[in-house]
Amino acid sequence: MNYQRPKGTNDILPGESEKWQFVEETARLLFGDYQYQEIRTPMFEHYEVIARSVGDTTDIVSKEMYDFRDKGDRHVTLRPEGTAPIVRAYVENKLFGPEHKKPYKVYYTGPMFRYERPQKGRLRQFHQIGIEAFGSENPSLDVEIVAMAMDYFNQLGIRKIRLVINSIGDKETRAAYRQALIDYLEPFEAELSEDSKRRLHENPLRVLDSKDKKDKPIVVNAPSILDYLSEPAKKHFNAVTETLKYLEIDFEIDHRMVRGLDYYTHTIFEIISDAPGMGAQSTICGGGRYDGLVEELGGPAVPGFGFAMGIERILLTLEQEDVLVPAINNLDAYVVGIGERTNMEVLKVVQAIRGFGYSADRDFMERKAKAQFKSADKQGAKLVLTLGEDELEKGQINVKALASHREKTFSLEEVYQQFNEVYDEMMTFIIED
Ligand code: HAM
Repeated sequence: MNYQRPKGTNDILPGESEKWQFVEETARLLFGDYQYQEIRTPMFEHYEVIARSVGDTTDIVSKEMYDFRDKGDRHVTLRPEGTAPIVRAYVENKLFGPEHKKPYKVYYTGPMFRYERPQKGRLRQFHQIGIEAFGSENPSLDVEIVAMAMDYFNQLGIRKIRLVINSIGDKETRAAYRQALIDYLEPFEAELSEDSKRRLHENPLRVLDSKDKKDKPIVVNAPSILDYLSEPAKKHFNAVTETLKYLEIDFEIDHRMVRGLDYYTHTIFEIISDAPGMGAQSTICGGGRYDGLVEELGGPAVPGFGFAMGIERILLTLEQEDVLVPAINNLDAYVVGIGERTNMEVLKVVQAIRGFGYSADRDFMERKAKAQFKSADKQGAKLVLTLGEDELEKGQINVKALASHREKTFSLEEVYQQFNEVYDEMMTFIIED
């Protein structure tokens, strides 16, 4: 029996999960400012949805799918990414209809699954935060989305990042470039990796994305796709670069960047972390335009643009850049009970405090008073309320503010009826001169 978690997965434990909440919450707030709404789709999809969108010859579909036949003999797969499922949902729910806002903007967060070789920053179950926007071909939308991703990292306190962009144009561009690439690669066919030999005629763009040592020196001198852009593709890409400059967003162009998914058209981009210690997996965000995908999955000709960021890699970057993640779960009140007979009343007090919207905690381990005070201190309680058997008899409770050392006895009634006033009174610091 193996009682260990599956290879390439993580348990996200308390202490760590607060950081996840911070990263997710920051995204929710920022994406909300840009008028994105949350969408949640199933964790698994019909195999075809992913294969059609991401592409049969990509590593994701040909090597990394967690696919299986369910008990009804349907070929399904855990989702390896969020875009294909969302496009499927967009078409199925007719979100292109006139009653919906355009562009239709959604964000998502959740686990994705790829059977990859695990290493630092690369997992088999990993998590993405992503967005998709449907319905506009306007290059300003490309830039707004890239700017939002940069804004997000800036808000988190991540500084050592680099924006890399490219265009892979439209259908016409890719047809012309495909031929140029085949013409360039064919003389090297014998030297290419096995994967690349196979892809040379199936999908030569994938050869550019190869991580194989054999392919890399060959790919370096491949022709640039930017020299093959059709007129409309050139116009779009120029508008994107001009707008980025106008908004003073720094970027680099990498004409060899193609990304690992087949659905892209026109603008594609990646945000790379240059923090030392990121290792090989330094791409923290990737995305681009996918103008043919909605149609490919049976919908109308609606353009799309989106990105996804790896949460594990964001957390690694925060760590590498020594960004302090703010603690979010602080404790307003700790209630110390002394003597067995106070057990029930102490529970009533913490419940009452929580009822007023404050956080409260108490001891359940029959600890002595001293140890309870220590717990209060350790948990960073702002107020410590102490109830002994004598106080219980008198219907009173002692309240102490830990920062100012102010202490006062209140009636239990006051705590039950108006804890907010007790809290305010005790937390108002009297500055004595
Ligand atoms: P992707 O480049 O495959 O794009 O993944 C986006 C990000 O997810 C990567 O940049 C990385 O941060 C993270 N990531 C990917 N694989 C792993 C892994 N095995 N372990 C840890 N992190 C990983 C997409 O998924 C597209 N759906 C993005 C998109 C949205 N394009 C348009 N809309």
